[in-house]
Amino acid sequence: MSGRPWFALLIPFTVTLALAQSAISPSHPNSPPPTNTAPTSAPSMTSVSAPTFSKDVAPILQKNCQVCHRPGEAGPFSMLTYEQTRPWAMAMKVAVQTGKMPPWFADHRYGKFSNAMSLSSAEIETLAKWADAGAPKGDPADMPPPVDWVEGWGIGKPDAVYQLPVAYDVPASGVIDYQHVIVPTGFTEDKWIQAAEVRPTDRMVVHHIIAYVREPGSNWFRGQKPGVFFTAPQVKTKEQPDTSALPSDFLVGYAPGQPPEILRPGQAKLIKAGSDIIFQVHYTPHGHATRDQSRLGIIFAKEPPKERVLTLSATNGTFKIPPGHPNYRVDSNFVVGADVRLSGLHPHMHGRGKDFEYRVVYPSGETKILLSVPHYDWHWQNWYNLEEPIALPKGTKIDCTAHFDNSPSNPENADPTKEVTWGEQSWDEMMVGFFNLVFDAKMPVENLFPDKKNPAGLASK
Ligand code: HEC
Repeated sequence: MSGRPWFALLIPFTVTLALAQSAISPSHPNSPPPTNTAPTSAPSMTSVSAPTFSKDVAPILQKNCQVCHRPGEAGPFSMLTYEQTRPWAMAMKVAVQTGKMPPWFADHRYGKFSNAMSLSSAEIETLAKWADAGAPKGDPADMPPPVDWVEGWGIGKPDAVYQLPVAYDVPASGVIDYQHVIVPTGFTEDKWIQAAEVRPTDRMVVHHIIAYVREPGSNWFRGQKPGVFFTAPQVKTKEQPDTSALPSDFLVGYAPGQPPEILRPGQAKLIKAGSDIIFQVHYTPHGHATRDQSRLGIIFAKEPPKERVLTLSATNGTFKIPPGHPNYRVDSNFVVGADVRLSGLHPHMHGRGKDFEYRVVYPSGETKILLSVPHYDWHWQNWYNLEEPIALPKGTKIDCTAHFDNSPSNPENADPTKEVTWGEQSWDEMMVGFFNLVFDAKMPVENLFPDKKNPAGLASK
């Protein structure tokens, strides 16, 4: 484990996914950009064989876009109807041709992901030809039946709901520091969680939320009063992420388009008796003052699970990115101390993050790329869920490599003249390769960290 203390490899629970600007920022006018779409009442000769909305375009939008582009969701305009979609035809063409939409950043050559969002080249071409032909409607009889989008919980009716105790007043504009709220679970016994979901009440202003579990005995945010919003103290550690408290568990996150956490039958996450939920919420004003009172819903496992799911990470907290460096490499790794399976990946960096790669190195020396994100975009917090979990025998290494762009040509760079180290603020950096491990629910978690003497934070688990 490259000589770092064991705890440096656990979830840095102090991670604040500090994002200075939002993916859902108010840079989008309420009206669409001008397009060259022609009137549809008089289709030109050339558009006769062109794709139509009803027949060709709507199915693509239903499958790939409406999850975010419908009222109440994160996308800045709705694609449910022809009338709503048509003015955006040209912008849609550009967005799919440049790969900006749908927001999915995995290099398709590596790994298969159950939550992948991407268009085939034929689908991209259909959208492009449709826009070029003046965005014809076609025969309404060709329209596919509308998708019955579930309003409300994607996990089904939760067994328990934890709501932010008070609504947050989001102003019309400005930058809002990350907000935290501690909500006690009230659990008097250990509970296994089969599914969990966070739902904002106003999605337009919620950039992302993470619900962490704080176990009893953890010092993380000790002294902060439960039930009220607070901002994290501005800790800046010298060499390492702050590891003074017990590791906390990443329960579930919300980000636009992110599916809720629904574990496979027989799998569950553990929340110990007496734990608290700590919400971290990133609000991004959207042009009008509003309020949000997000909720976490959880469904308990109906019987004790066979397997436990735990989010850990390969973290490097000791890098020093030189001023102006355009392509600075940072590595991290985690060696699994027991036979486990790997089910999901979630790279995390800030605005200087450029690319991120996960590899697996088997004890035999055989190595394989699990995920490559060649153009990392910190405005999107994607999880990459493996279509089939991968078996990692004891001694397998999860290897991560990231590059950072600290040059002036990176528009997300807060200050290219500065040496950049680990930190919580958006002008600092992070290098975290989160991943989900799946293992025998009866296995003590200490087994995952065999070369650790007495990992206090895990000893009681
Ligand atoms: C995961 C959610 C999500 C999905 C899926 C998604 N979008 Fe978006 N889209 C957004 C958000 C959020 C924005 C506004 C922020 C931004 O532009 O990054 C946006 C913006 C856009 C814009 C405006 C871009 C601009 O440059 O102003 C277009 C056009 C667009 N999306 C088209 C699409 C199309 C076409 C699809 C399907 C192929 C799609 N989107 C799928 C969330 C999504």
